[in-house]
Amino acid sequence: MTTIVSHYIERLQGESWVPGDKSVSHRALMLGALSVGETRITGLLEGDDVLATAAAMRALGAEVNRLDDGTWQVFGCGVGGLAAPDDVIDMGNSGTGARLLMGVIAGQPVTAVLTGDASLRSRPMERIMTPLREMGVAFAAAEGGRLPLTMTGPADLMPIDYPSPVASAQIKSAVLLAGLAAPGETTVIEAIATRDHTERLLSHFGAEVRTATEAAGAQRITVVGQPELTGCAVRVPADVSSAAFPLVAALIASEGELRLPAVGTNPLRAGLLETLTEMGADITRENATVAAGEPIADLMVRASKLRGVNVPAGRAASMIDEYPILSVAAASANGTTEMLGIAELRVKETDRIKVMADGLIKCGVKTDYDEDSMRITNSTVNGGVTISAEHDHRIAMSFLTLGMNAKAPITVKGCATIETSFPGFATAMNQLGASIANGSPT
Ligand code: S3P
Repeated sequence: MTTIVSHYIERLQGESWVPGDKSVSHRALMLGALSVGETRITGLLEGDDVLATAAAMRALGAEVNRLDDGTWQVFGCGVGGLAAPDDVIDMGNSGTGARLLMGVIAGQPVTAVLTGDASLRSRPMERIMTPLREMGVAFAAAEGGRLPLTMTGPADLMPIDYPSPVASAQIKSAVLLAGLAAPGETTVIEAIATRDHTERLLSHFGAEVRTATEAAGAQRITVVGQPELTGCAVRVPADVSSAAFPLVAALIASEGELRLPAVGTNPLRAGLLETLTEMGADITRENATVAAGEPIADLMVRASKLRGVNVPAGRAASMIDEYPILSVAAASANGTTEMLGIAELRVKETDRIKVMADGLIKCGVKTDYDEDSMRITNSTVNGGVTISAEHDHRIAMSFLTLGMNAKAPITVKGCATIETSFPGFATAMNQLGASIANGSPT
């Protein structure tokens, strides 16, 4: 178990490359494996979660290589062409990897056994099994609809129209990926739009995907089944969810300025940027462009005086992974920041409402919460405590960021999980002026 200590700093300064987008990286490997011909992926996140997906694609028969220059090469087997794995597939800590993989396997007439680490084995999978069962997939899962589970894809998968009961890109993506193997059209209806990386990348690989907005803002996302996907080049943007840590660290420091190059700015992922801007953050974008269907831009961030705001429930889907780090920004924002409609945080790598709130209170930050909301009021961050990351990379990085603005150092234990999404986090932060070092629990 890795323990890391973060000390107060005055300023953060410089330019830092942030690792590739985790969501896009999983999808690029999976669509490469479902394509015919060669896919070349640059900027792939080489974190544990994505490496588990690369291993899963190999286990299903795709050829996946890392070339010397860091490019990843995939030779796929085509839609419906993947093979039965010889062994159990272990998705480690990755909910996205496991759930999207279920959609991929649903479209292959094979039996596979999936498992994961203790955190992943505690997370709900019924939300994916329900629509895939409707399509004809057979499941046997651990109690409560959890991993480990065994699944068998049918010879003839049925297309469905599925109104998703939860605002979840993972549910939408699993159904669309399965729908690739079904004849006719498969549609997901979502009341609130979630990240659309699957749709954008499916189009990039040659599938026909349509999104229609209905009355009251609901979205109907339709994929036309049994396309011939063609291997192609994918440039993965830097992950806005990882950029969020240096970005907030720079905002709450007393002085300094950062440049974060080529960060994904997909509007359905940019809720944190919108919220921080409302809070008075000085964030600007330069060199905006599009790569593999995804908007990207350099982010320029300057130390700023923040003020508390109300974050509406309707914004939750576009910043679902950013509430832990937003709560760090909220601790140093004038007034109170209220976050509404965030119940989904309770079923992430850990219960992120409870773990964040309890840790903030321990650090001296005035915080209260209930089932689906949290309120944080500007406070002196005392620090001088040890926080457990609870198998959650974003909790670990959030408290290390809080330590940069605390009177006494904050120690975080269980930091190995940072490798799932931001390999080299401490080194990258220290190069910008942070003071993060290995430590032992206080
Ligand atoms: C993801 C979707 C989100 C997010 C996760 C990545 C994705 O989960 O929390 O980190 O890549 O589709 P939900 O869609 O379940 O909210």
